[in-house]
Amino acid sequence: MICSNIGQAGGRLTFAGRDTVALAEQYGTPLYLMDEQRIRHNCRIYKENMDRHFTRALPLYASKALACRRLYEIVAEEGLGTDVVSPGELYLAKSAGFPMERVFFHGNAKTDADILFAMGCGVGYFVVDNPDELSAVDRYAGERGIHQKILLRVTPGIDPHTFEAVSTGKVDSKFGIPIETGQALEFVQQALGLEHVQVMGLHAHVGSQVFASTVFYDTADIMLRFLAELKEKLGWEAEMLNLGGGYGVRYTEQDPTVDIGYELSTVGRHIKEGCARLGLAEPMVLMEPGRSIVADAGMTLYTVQSTKRIPGYRSYVAIDGGMTDNPRYALYRSAYTVYLANKMDAPRDFVCTVGGRCCESGDMIQENVPLPEPERGDILAVCTTGAYNYSMSSNYNSIPRPPIVMVDGERDYVAVRRETFEDLAAREV
Ligand code: LLP
Repeated sequence: MICSNIGQAGGRLTFAGRDTVALAEQYGTPLYLMDEQRIRHNCRIYKENMDRHFTRALPLYASKALACRRLYEIVAEEGLGTDVVSPGELYLAKSAGFPMERVFFHGNAKTDADILFAMGCGVGYFVVDNPDELSAVDRYAGERGIHQKILLRVTPGIDPHTFEAVSTGKVDSKFGIPIETGQALEFVQQALGLEHVQVMGLHAHVGSQVFASTVFYDTADIMLRFLAELKEKLGWEAEMLNLGGGYGVRYTEQDPTVDIGYELSTVGRHIKEGCARLGLAEPMVLMEPGRSIVADAGMTLYTVQSTKRIPGYRSYVAIDGGMTDNPRYALYRSAYTVYLANKMDAPRDFVCTVGGRCCESGDMIQENVPLPEPERGDILAVCTTGAYNYSMSSNYNSIPRPPIVMVDGERDYVAVRRETFEDLAAREV
């Protein structure tokens, strides 16, 4: 099994030690399941190892991966901070009681209203993406009579051709300001000259679903060199260095397993050595894992509706959900591991495409999936759906979103209820 919280008993798939077929019967399908203990376990891997291997550090949960109030509560209890990318995520975090001093507000296109809303919430930090935003944050902070803490987002210029799966840290990016062109230096200089912001440090993010350790070493190296340059030229030393997202996760047996604790120990050592070499005081290091906190804590259950064999072509299995609850195959051709939850002992000799219920040919969950011969009413499980599924879901075809049910040992509870038809019409006037 691809994750230790997945197993089988009596021919049925288990998740977090629970019978998935029974959960599907109890809550209906499609159904997002989340394993609370696994979320906590994943948080602790980052928290404990960053505490141990860095002089000062804080992991921030990147809530774009899955934002709902219960998640913010769990993450806050585990002592992490959080990164929010919109006033909507900030609203959810705030209403869940997340400590605002541990919230970092991202975004490359924050509106005046966003800035004012975030300041009204008392958000801890703005991760300022560009000079226009910087001026606006300074102006509004001045009007409110506060000193807003900020990080400045820069792009380290890591070439995505060298590191596959890396996509946000190159010079040509809509995020941040490039170091390579000299613009980042001016950006920092501009920020240091402002009266109402307190520049706490820098932020860089190079990409998601990262497996190679070298990506974080290289990011750290470039950032530390830049910090040394800032110290020399501007006489400014950063308090904080944010290295962006977390490590990759296993979607299939082919994906590598990352020992996150070990990786963090090496990044910690790398930063200590780098700071010593460059004569820098060690900044507090932040990382923003999203996927690796929630992905393997999630599973989606569907009910099979039909099986269609097209001789000489392929076979389709249609389910009661699809791209509305998981658009990742349609968008990125993302791989997933799929099971028939009620036929775990049967031979998997039926190769098929799992298609969703939307009126769109591209609405697929996976292709070339080996399953036992499916029948209407079987429960189909898609593993590792905790990240970027619910948060990227839609109401295309006016399909209501599934609920999120948390499983916590013997206990299970609804964290987000199923959307209703009334919800679909609720905003219409
Ligand atoms: N910090 C920043 C600034 C980010 O842009 C991201 C992800 C993260 C943290 C979290 O990275 P993670 O630990 O999850 O790898 N929708 C895509 C993923 C987009 C991720 C974008 N940024 C997907 O479904 O794969």
